[in-house]
Amino acid sequence: MKSLLIANWKMNPLTLHEAQKLLESTVKASNAAREVSVIIAPPALYLIPLRAGYRGKKVAFGVQNAHFENTGSFTGEISMEEARNAGASHAIIGHAERRAMGESNEDTRKKVAAALSLNIVPILCVGEKARGYEGEHLIFIKEQLRAGFSDVAPGKVARVIVAYEPIWAIGAEEAMNPRDMHEMAIFIRKTLVELCSEKAMGVRILYGGSIDEGNAVAMIRQGDVAGLLVGRASARKEKITQLIRAIKEV
Ligand code: PGA
Repeated sequence: MKSLLIANWKMNPLTLHEAQKLLESTVKASNAAREVSVIIAPPALYLIPLRAGYRGKKVAFGVQNAHFENTGSFTGEISMEEARNAGASHAIIGHAERRAMGESNEDTRKKVAAALSLNIVPILCVGEKARGYEGEHLIFIKEQLRAGFSDVAPGKVARVIVAYEPIWAIGAEEAMNPRDMHEMAIFIRKTLVELCSEKAMGVRILYGGSIDEGNAVAMIRQGDVAGLLVGRASARKEKITQLIRAIKEV
């Protein structure tokens, strides 16, 4: 089965030279894994030089965040259009760490729409801080999905990728249990079909949060996911190589 791997480097590594080395290792591993599609989201500063130095077709590039306005007075931001012009084909939207810095559901709605209008594939991140006994987290996720998809035309629904990342499993010691992810994937699919009709059957659902070479295979096999969004393990050469190797024949 084909798996999608989003390498979210976050604020790593510290130099362009190290970023080039990390790209090299990631490319090498992914060239040997025909069934794995890899999308690298480096710090935006490195996007242009990394893109320019990469001659292959196997790996695609994305940004970790971008503004929904095309241009203007937004100090410190980069726009979706600038990202596209720099070579990004994907954009992570609404990552938990961005939401913690103030990004709202309303922002994600505009960002998903901006990305699609430029032919960038949006990777909409959703996930709850904690789980309650009453299933409040399901209402929370539903709301994040509703906002993110509200401006998506029916014909474009299946272009959006949803990454479920429970905040309690991001940067943690352990990933979520794959069986619980399976249940969540069913819930997300059902919610999307309610919101966007049967077109939502084409949406790819990923899992993110403390994935590494040890738990990736089980998550893909039992979690009912089309792939993984990986933070820490994607920013270390040995780890990402082992991870890609591990999932190449799942
Ligand atoms: P992690 O991060 O793999 O380091 O837990 C995942 C993410 O935040 O996307």
